[in-house]
Amino acid sequence: MEIAKYKFKENKAPGGTLVSLEDKKELPFAVKRVYYLYGLDGNSVRGRHAHRTLQQLLVCLCGSCKLSLDNGSERQEFLLDNPAEGVLISAGMWREIYGCSSDTVLLVLASEIYDEEDYIRDYDEFLHFAKEK
Ligand code: TYD
Repeated sequence: MEIAKYKFKENKAPGGTLVSLEDKKELPFAVKRVYYLYGLDGNSVRGRHAHRTLQQLLVCLCGSCKLSLDNGSERQEFLLDNPAEGVLISAGMWREIYGCSSDTVLLVLASEIYDEEDYIRDYDEFLHFAKEK
């Protein structure tokens, strides 16, 4: 299973670092929506769903958390702990986010606006979807 990981250019200056993510340059898709998670409970699991068409780029801006990606036949785990790195979640991936430190701020850049119809929230339905794909 090939998961695209990005290492962004860090514009370092004595006063701090700046990372820019620009359409058609660093970004793998046109961003239509941005959201972020914080105040995460390290004992809870977020996500636990897949999307039919949505693509997302995850960047852990602060703190650290674990991401598990499952394409229906393989599963990979990632540690997100660097604001200069991103992981692309393509369509049809079951994702779980867990083990977050209490200071985690997780940025999500999404290719589509919010649409509950695009979610697959049942794991068996996801396995069926992944098999048909
Ligand atoms: P959800 O995607 O289920 O979050 P998670 O997988 O991290 O648990 O979304 C949680 C709630 O937030 C759900 O009621 C829908 C709402 N929501 C929006 O209104 N807009 C959005 O862009 C997202 C991602 C969620």
